[in-house]
Amino acid sequence: MSPANLLLMLSVFTGAADGYYFSTWSQCIYSYPDLSDMVFILSFNFNKWMFLQFNSTVGIFVGYTEQGVKFAENFNKNEAYLQQLRAEVDIFCRHNAEIYESAVFDKAVMPKVNLSLVQKGDSRHPYLLRCSAYDFYPQQIKMSWLRDGRVVSDVTSSEQMPNGDWYYQSHSELVFSPKSGETISCMVEHSSLTGPVVIDWKPPVHEFEWDFQLLSAAGDASAVLGIIIATAGYIYYKTKTEKNLVAIY
Ligand SMILES: *[C@@H]1O[C@H](CO)[C@@H](O)[C@H](O)[C@H]1NC(C)=O
Ligand SMILES: *[C@@H]1O[C@H](CO)[C@@H](O)[C@H](O)[C@H]1NC(C)=O
Repeated sequence: MSPANLLLMLSVFTGAADGYYFSTWSQCIYSYPDLSDMVFILSFNFNKWMFLQFNSTVGIFVGYTEQGVKFAENFNKNEAYLQQLRAEVDIFCRHNAEIYESAVFDKAVMPKVNLSLVQKGDSRHPYLLRCSAYDFYPQQIKMSWLRDGRVVSDVTSSEQMPNGDWYYQSHSELVFSPKSGETISCMVEHSSLTGPVVIDWKPPVHEFEWDFQLLSAAGDASAVLGIIIATAGYIYYKTKTEKNLVAIY
């Protein structure tokens, strides 16, 4: 588990007239799983400007504008109110963080993995395969490529990003020139899995064979049929590949 910098926010909008906004924000900020560095912040804002803030580490209000300083002086005279706010670190922040942690942390969620051919190469241009893992938790994941079961070291790129909903996704790309008959695999290792997940991809051998057939049997009716099937297949493949790209970005 990585010590996430969590922000639990509760915003209360208490009035708007002709585009003016007064808002208060309650924030609980911490970095350690044991919640030892928890801070409770209560900010008062007018439009975009924060003019007054209570920070539980400081223990009193601090004003940031002339008016804010006056508010701070007033609030700081109210010892009962200050005591109540200081207690929010435990009552509001730690209490809620414990609930979130038990609901979210330590709950590993399995990645959905798929493999897509981003660019189909030929004898001069390399192929580009992408392995994608979606909707997993926690963030740590290992993606590797295998050629006939052996780990490939020159992986082109690998990136990880948050989905924005506690889950993560990760993509890894491999540029390579396929050898006929070999198997390229993407291997994914994650704490939610009992063992590595391996997805195989085989170079389309038949395409090289077709080229050869077309050359030797030009004019032959079966070759014409071959071209039609190959074209239809290519269009289908293109559509599929483009769909995948849309889905991924
Ligand atoms: C709260 O106050 C402490 C001590 O001054 C400071 O280190 C911390 O950055 C403050 N937190 C925020 C969010 O302003
Ligand atoms: C891979 O999975 C994602 C998410 O489930 C999906 O949107 C995408 O279409 C899939 N791609 C392929 C090639 O199956």
